[in-house]
Amino acid sequence: MSLIKLIDFKSLGDDRGGLVALGANKDIPFNVKRVYYIFATQSGVSRGFHAHKKLKQLAICIAGSCRFVMDSGLDKQEIIMDSPHQGIVIDKMQWHEMHDFSLDCVLLVLASDYYDEDDYIRDYDKFLQLVKNNDYSYS
Ligand code: TYD
Repeated sequence: MSLIKLIDFKSLGDDRGGLVALGANKDIPFNVKRVYYIFATQSGVSRGFHAHKKLKQLAICIAGSCRFVMDSGLDKQEIIMDSPHQGIVIDKMQWHEMHDFSLDCVLLVLASDYYDEDDYIRDYDKFLQLVKNNDYSYS
């Protein structure tokens, strides 16, 4: 099973330029409660390094590029995101890391719930333990 789940967005752009429109529960496979964006990431900085117990997210590199590493605890896969026409799903219980941000990278993230530190698993060994014990069911 691929850990990289990409969603292609319809382009509404024309000769004036680009346009993409996303609807919650339509183009985005959940109800969006929060939006955040990562930008002006300093050279050499990597981010993420956590999984979520319940949260689902969709990340879109609306400018520039960065490299995603997705890790189920059993397998790892990576992809370079560099298109505003494509989003990557960050499912619950998916350890994820973002590397190699271009200086102009703007990473827009749509999230299924409000910020909740209790939903984070920030310790990789704990994440592996939870996966091993199947403490959080995948869906
Ligand atoms: P952090 O989780 O370290 O970002 P990432 O792991 O994706 O690189 O978030 C940095 C700080 O911002 C941390 O103190 C939590 C806070 N934060 C919020 O308050 N709300 C949010 O929606 C997010 C994503 C982070």
